[in-house]
Amino acid sequence: MEQRELIEIACKARENAYAPYSQFKVGAALLSAGGKIFTGANVENASYGLSTCAERIAVFKAVSEGELKFDIIAVVGSGVGYTYPCGACLQVLAEFSPELRVIVADEKSNYKEYGLDELLPLGFRMLDVRRET
Ligand code: THU
Repeated sequence: MEQRELIEIACKARENAYAPYSQFKVGAALLSAGGKIFTGANVENASYGLSTCAERIAVFKAVSEGELKFDIIAVVGSGVGYTYPCGACLQVLAEFSPELRVIVADEKSNYKEYGLDELLPLGFRMLDVRRET
């Protein structure tokens, strides 16, 4: 799967964003280790804090269908420049695939690729917790 193909799929997914409050539409396309693609778009709510990002929609769709390992995610926002996944989405993605590749793409077909560990270098992991006995 080419990066540009995944970006195209994320752009298509963005069309279904429900963003009447921010007007900021985001699309995501998540490629699982098993080769399946799960898409997401942001879904907002009149109670703003209930809004959910495109990336988390994609990962929750995938996990709820039994896919737990992912290779790469493409994210496209709106307007000028790149849309980077928020901290909450990075944390959720790291739960499943700390070695995920993250592509951010703009409207002009430019893109950048990062390791999730670059965007979230010191994310919380339950395994790292030392419990006192
Ligand atoms: N949003 C995403 O869907 N993904 C991101 O990476 C950043 C922000 C959404 C949340 C909200 O619906 C809108 O963009 C504005 O913050």
